[in-house]
Amino acid sequence: MRDEAKNLAGRLTLDEKLCLIKGVGAWRTYPLERLGLPDIMVADGPHGLRKQEGPGGAQGLGESIQTVCFPTASGTAASFSRALLRQLGETLGGECRAAQLSVLLGPAVNIKRSPLCGRNFEYFSEDPYLAAEMAVSYTQGVQGKGVGVSIKHFAANNQERRRMTTQSVVDERALREIYFPAFEQTVKRADPWTVMVAYNKLFDGIYCCENTRLLTDILREEWGFDGVAVSDWGAVSDRVKGVAAGLDLEMPDSADFHRQPLLEALQSGELAESALDEACARVIDLILRAVEVEQADGAPPPPADNELDHILARQYARETMVLLKNDGALPLQKNLKAAFIGGFAKQPRFQGGGSSHVNAFRVASAYETAMDAGLPVEYAEGFGVRDYEYDPVKTKQAVALAAHCDVAVIFAGLPEAMDSEGQDRKHLDLPPCQNTVIQAIVQVQPNTVVVLQNGAPVRMPWAGDVAAILESYLAGEAVGEAQIDLLYGDYSPCAKLAETFPLRLQDTPCYGNFPGGTATVEYRESIYVGYRYYDKAQRDVLFPFGHGLSYTQFEYSNLRLARKNFTPGENLEAIVTIRNAGDVDAAEIVQFYVEPPQDGAFRPKMELKGFDKVFLRAGEKRRVSCTLDARSFSYWHTGLNDWYCAPGEYGVLAAASSRDIRLRAEVTVHNEQWADSPYVGLALPSYENAQVHAVGDAEFEALLGFSLPPADYASPRRLNLDATLTDAQQSPFGRVILKIMRLAIPVMEKVLGEAFGDAATQVESAFEMPIRTIAEWSGGFFDRPMAEALISIFNQEDYLQSICEMAKGLGRAVKKAMGK
Ligand code: BGC
Repeated sequence: MRDEAKNLAGRLTLDEKLCLIKGVGAWRTYPLERLGLPDIMVADGPHGLRKQEGPGGAQGLGESIQTVCFPTASGTAASFSRALLRQLGETLGGECRAAQLSVLLGPAVNIKRSPLCGRNFEYFSEDPYLAAEMAVSYTQGVQGKGVGVSIKHFAANNQERRRMTTQSVVDERALREIYFPAFEQTVKRADPWTVMVAYNKLFDGIYCCENTRLLTDILREEWGFDGVAVSDWGAVSDRVKGVAAGLDLEMPDSADFHRQPLLEALQSGELAESALDEACARVIDLILRAVEVEQADGAPPPPADNELDHILARQYARETMVLLKNDGALPLQKNLKAAFIGGFAKQPRFQGGGSSHVNAFRVASAYETAMDAGLPVEYAEGFGVRDYEYDPVKTKQAVALAAHCDVAVIFAGLPEAMDSEGQDRKHLDLPPCQNTVIQAIVQVQPNTVVVLQNGAPVRMPWAGDVAAILESYLAGEAVGEAQIDLLYGDYSPCAKLAETFPLRLQDTPCYGNFPGGTATVEYRESIYVGYRYYDKAQRDVLFPFGHGLSYTQFEYSNLRLARKNFTPGENLEAIVTIRNAGDVDAAEIVQFYVEPPQDGAFRPKMELKGFDKVFLRAGEKRRVSCTLDARSFSYWHTGLNDWYCAPGEYGVLAAASSRDIRLRAEVTVHNEQWADSPYVGLALPSYENAQVHAVGDAEFEALLGFSLPPADYASPRRLNLDATLTDAQQSPFGRVILKIMRLAIPVMEKVLGEAFGDAATQVESAFEMPIRTIAEWSGGFFDRPMAEALISIFNQEDYLQSICEMAKGLGRAVKKAMGK
C-alpha cells in the first residue's frame, strides 16, 4: 500500500471515513475534494461494459452505454486459451479507459457446481485449474491497461436461489481444492485491484462480508492480497463486523443505514478506529492507483473503436464454439441449399440476463450473415425464441422446408430467462417445442445440424439422431458471423468443453443437494465436482469435460517426462508431440491430467494440471509441454492444514479430452515428510468410491469435522433484518405484501424488459432479498428504524409502537422528498 494512502487516511474526519467506506450511488466512490482525491467509477463486467450514465444511472437503473458484447465465460473458458483471455482482458481494459472506468466488475470465477446455476454462463468451468488460468490471464489483460478488476464472488457462491442469505456448508478440502484456486491464483499471480465478496455465508455460518477467516486470515495473510475487498452489491448485513473482518468498501450506497451502529461501536470500543482507518487507507490506495494511471497518460484516452472491437468479438467467438458431434455433415459446402430453422437464426442468444447484460453495439445473426455472404439459405421459424409449446403450423412449415433442402441447420437454445442472474434452472431441458421440431426434422432430413445457443448444458434427447451439433454458448454480439465462419469451414472449430454435459440431472454430483434448504446448502459431494465425480463413479455422460472436435484429426506421440522421479520444490516438464494428420489447418487443445495413487486419502481418478493450445497447419507437427510442480501432485491435507504432496506412483496423461486419453507416462513422487491420511479412523466409505448420492449426515459431518447446521429455518421463527419477504410470509402482514407485489408483475415486465429474464421469476427472486438490503437501497427513504419496525410487525410484536415508528418514518421520507 502506498504511504500516501496511509497518510491521507490519517487526515480524514470521522464523517469522511464513514463516507469513504461506502459507495456513492450505484457505481462511484466518495470524492474527497478537500484532499484532492477524485471519485472513481466501476462498472460490470465481465464480458462487456455496463456503464450506466444519465437518468437512473446512479441508481443502477438507467440504460447503459452502447458497447461491444464479447462471448461470455462459459465460451471463453472453452477456448482453453490464455492468450485469448489476455487479449479479451486488454480489449475490455482499453474500452474501460475510454469510458473512464477505473474498475471492471469481473472476472466471475465461481465453480460450476451444478449445471442449473443461473449464472453459469458468466462462470468459467467446473475445473479449478482451468478457471484459475483463465482468471489470471483475463486479470493480467485488463490490469495491463491500467484498469482494476474485481474478481468475484468470493467465495462458494455457486447458485442463485437464496444467494443473498444461504450458508454454503463445504468441507475445507473442497474449498481449497475446488472453490478457492481461481481466487488464490489470481491474487498470488496477478495482483487484482479488488476482490468482490459474495452474498452468502461460509465458515461458521458467518456472512462472507463479515468473515474474518475468509477476508483476513486466508485472503490477506495467507495469499497476500493487498487490494480492496468490496462487497457484492447489497451483501452487507452488519457493517461493524464487516470493517473488523476486513471488508473495506461497501457497494452500492447504503445511505445512513449503517451509520448509527458504526458510531456506537466506535464509541463503545467494539470496533477499533484503526480497523476503520485501514479500510479507508485501502480505498484511498485504490483511488490513487487509478489517478496514477490517468496522470501517466496525460491526455484523455481515445474513444473506443466499436467497429474494431466487433471484429475482435468475431475472432474470439470462433474460438469459443465447441463442435460436439460431426458425422461428416460439417463443414457445409457453400453451394448446398440450406434450411435455417429456429427463431435463434434471426434473433440469436448471445448474452445472459442480469448485471452482466450489456447494451450491444451490433448483433449479427447467422441468417443475415449468410444472406450477406450470398449463401443459398432459406428460413422457416419452426419455433420462436420465447416459445415453449409446440406450434403445429410452424413445425409443418419447418419440416417441409427441411425436406426440400440439402441440409437443415436448426438454431436452438435456451430462452434468456433461463440463463439469468437471480434464478436457477429447475431442469436441463430445452423448451419442448424445440425438441419436437428437431425430432420431426430428422425424420425427413438426414443431414440435420443443430446449433445451440445457451449458457449452460442442456439435455439432447436427439443427440444420436442428428448429423452434427455445434455448441455456440453465449458467443457475444458477433455470434452469427462466427457461426457461419465455422459451419461453412472458413475456420475449423477448436474449442473444447470446460464442463461436463451430463445425460440427466439425476446424474449430477450435487443432485439432491442443490439448491439446499431455506438456511443452508450442503456440498456433500465435496471434491467430486464435474469430471472428478463422473470419472471416479464411472458414470456415462453426454459429452465429457475437455471434449471438442475439429475438421481435422490430431495424432499424439512421444509423451516424455523430464525425469522419472519428482520431489516437492522441483518442476517437472511433460512434453508430447502433436501432429495435424488431416488436411485442414486447425488448433488443438492438449490436456495434461495427473492420475494420483488411490491407496491413501480419497482422491479423484485424475485432475487437469496443464494444457496448451497449438495451431498446426495440415501435416505439421509440434511439441507441446506443460510444467508440473508440487501443487500438481498435492491434495489439501486437513490434518496439516496445508497442501500435501503424497509420495507414490503417479500417472501423467496427455489427452484430447477427459475421456480420450492418448498417452500415459509415470513418475515416482518422493517426499521425506510422511503424513498419514487425515481420514484414518473416519468412516468415509462413500467418498472412497465417489458414491456421493449416498453420503448421509454422519458421513458428511465426519468429513466436515463439525455438526451440520439445520438445513431449514424453524417456521415460524423470530425474524431479523436479514429476513426476506419470503420469510415474512409466516405473518399475515407479510402475506399481504407479497400478494400486492405479485400484482406488480405486469408493471415490472414493462420496466425491466428482457434484460432481467422474465419478470415473474425476477419478482420471485426479489422476494429473496433481505429487508435490510431493500432499506439500504432505498436512498434513505425506508430507513433503519422503519426496517426494524417492519420486522417487528412481521414478528407480530409491539404492533402499536411499530406502526407509530413506520408513520414517523413516512414523515421523515416525505420531508426528505421535499428536500427539508
Ligand atoms: C452481482 C455482481 C455485480 C453487481 C453489480 C450483483 O448483484 O452479483 O456480480 O457485479 O451486482 O451490478
